[in-house]
Amino acid sequence: MRLDITVLPGDGVGPEVTREAVRVLRTVLDLYGYEASFEEHAIGGVAIRKFGTPLPEATVRACSESRAVLLGAVGGPEFDSLPAGERPEAGLLGLRQALGGYANLRPAIAYGAIADCSPLRPDIIKGANVLIVRELLGGIYFGEPRGFSDSPAPAAYNTMRYSEAEIERVAHVAFRQARMRHKKVTSVDKANVLETSQLWRKTVTRVSREYPEVKLDHMYVDACAMRLITHPGSFDVIVTENLFGDILSDEAAVISGSLGMLASATIGGKVDLYEPVHGSAPDIAGKGVVNPLAQILSAAMMLDHLELRAAAVEVEKAVAAVLAEGKVRTPDLGGRSSTEEVTAAVLEKLG
Ligand code: NAD
Ligand code: IPM
Ligand code: MN
Repeated sequence: MRLDITVLPGDGVGPEVTREAVRVLRTVLDLYGYEASFEEHAIGGVAIRKFGTPLPEATVRACSESRAVLLGAVGGPEFDSLPAGERPEAGLLGLRQALGGYANLRPAIAYGAIADCSPLRPDIIKGANVLIVRELLGGIYFGEPRGFSDSPAPAAYNTMRYSEAEIERVAHVAFRQARMRHKKVTSVDKANVLETSQLWRKTVTRVSREYPEVKLDHMYVDACAMRLITHPGSFDVIVTENLFGDILSDEAAVISGSLGMLASATIGGKVDLYEPVHGSAPDIAGKGVVNPLAQILSAAMMLDHLELRAAAVEVEKAVAAVLAEGKVRTPDLGGRSSTEEVTAAVLEKLG
């Protein structure tokens, strides 16, 4: 079996972390005797500069024809004044739509070895392991109408919209994930205010009847934002709509100690997409100090979903071992090592 993987480095630290994850993938796939090919394509700001669009057709085609896509990050300050539809971020949103992955899995794990990197007390984060299942193709990100209007006075508007079917399919993903974990789903909404959330709550409750072994509870997003920080260990799987999931997942980075630790997998479409939760980090781009572990762990999620479970575990164990040794860490984890040194340490643990 040959694995054709499309690699989309993107902007800022995107290429820096993607390069490292590909090094890890090459090594571990080789170790397990799998053949793989990696083909790079443009997305985001680099694609705007080179092709005048954040999502060239050739990129979509290559992604659609591959087994999996590994994406770095898109965006940067030089594009911030562009209209929403022309920005680098529009390229990523368009790719998500084109591939059709509607469930974005974002695990946040409190690794004991880096507990001191979290501003939270060690007793609060101890043992925390939360999986945020973020709906990725609906809600206010894609709802119509959206735009600006000028009369009678300047205004702007977006639409939060969900169909029952969109909620159902992501709810099934959350319950199936919970079944393999601690059998608890917390559905997060704002049903005390929003109609979309009322439909969300009703639909998730109905879907839950198909999973009697999984316990379901509901929480308002404002309360969840607090509880995630005060009692992270009380969560197993969180399922929530697009924007709430975007915000709560960055917040969950505090449990792990750095945004540079959060991986993600976008599943459910024709080709799955793997990307770290963090962005292009313009403040540290080009300095060689970005933490590559979020992207390396995203690559491990790719291996897992490609059913190369042993290879996935090998990478996860190597990362855990490097963290446990504590000698090689990037500055976000309180260390002084470079991006490359961290990858080298991970590679050394493989095999
Ligand atoms: P960001 O995630 O890029 O950075 C937030 C902070 O976390 C920064 O201080 C950054 O240095 C730090 N950080 C992020 N990843 C890190 C890592 N791996 N190692 C060490 N430190 C890390 O968010 P931002 O600054 O709000 O956004 C920058 C740009 O990235 C924007 O254009 C935004 O739209 C874009 N963005 C893209 C994605 C994506 O492509 N998936 C995700 C989020 C933001
Ligand atoms: C993320 C990012 C993206 C999102 C942006 C860059 C479009 O913040 O993946 O979390 O909002 O989905
Ligand atoms: Mn985000």
